[in-house]
Amino acid sequence: MQRTLILLKPDCVQRRLMGQIITRFEDKGLNFVAMKLMQITPELAKQHYAEHVAKPWYPTLEGFVTAGPIVAAVLEGLEAIRVVREMLGATNGLQAAAGTIRGDFSSSRQMNLVHGSDGEEAAAREIALYFKPEEIVASTPTIATWLR
Ligand code: TYD
Ligand code: MG
Repeated sequence: MQRTLILLKPDCVQRRLMGQIITRFEDKGLNFVAMKLMQITPELAKQHYAEHVAKPWYPTLEGFVTAGPIVAAVLEGLEAIRVVREMLGATNGLQAAAGTIRGDFSSSRQMNLVHGSDGEEAAAREIALYFKPEEIVASTPTIATWLR
């Protein structure tokens, strides 16, 4: 089992696509083990996107992700990190394959609806940025059994 962090970014919330996106992850068989509606501060944005802070496009990215409410969530499942990234599709919505979330709902390089951790190290770091350990509610063995 793996855990990964997703963010439903401000465009997802504002366009009222939360339900459809959450349904895709549930349909795939991933479990939500933590979830909250919140607004990202500039400080948190800089920590979350530490690898991109020096890029010329970072200031507009920060403006976008801090512009309105987001949903942060932890998804749990087999190979969850890779599975979520494949469900998201390429970064640029214009290039993302049809059938992926970005491919189906986004035509933008910046406003691409959903973030997903890109590896085990990133997932651990990002989950800790958004959630205290006690805010992550383990799925029960009974529920896990239903999925097999
Ligand atoms: P990146 O980590 O490359 O993409 P991903 O979200 O697929 O892991 O970039 C982080 C976010 O930064 C990306 O989701 C959208 C935004 N971004 C831009 O605004 N302009 C750009 O040129 C790139 C590459 C990304
Ligand atoms: Mg990334």
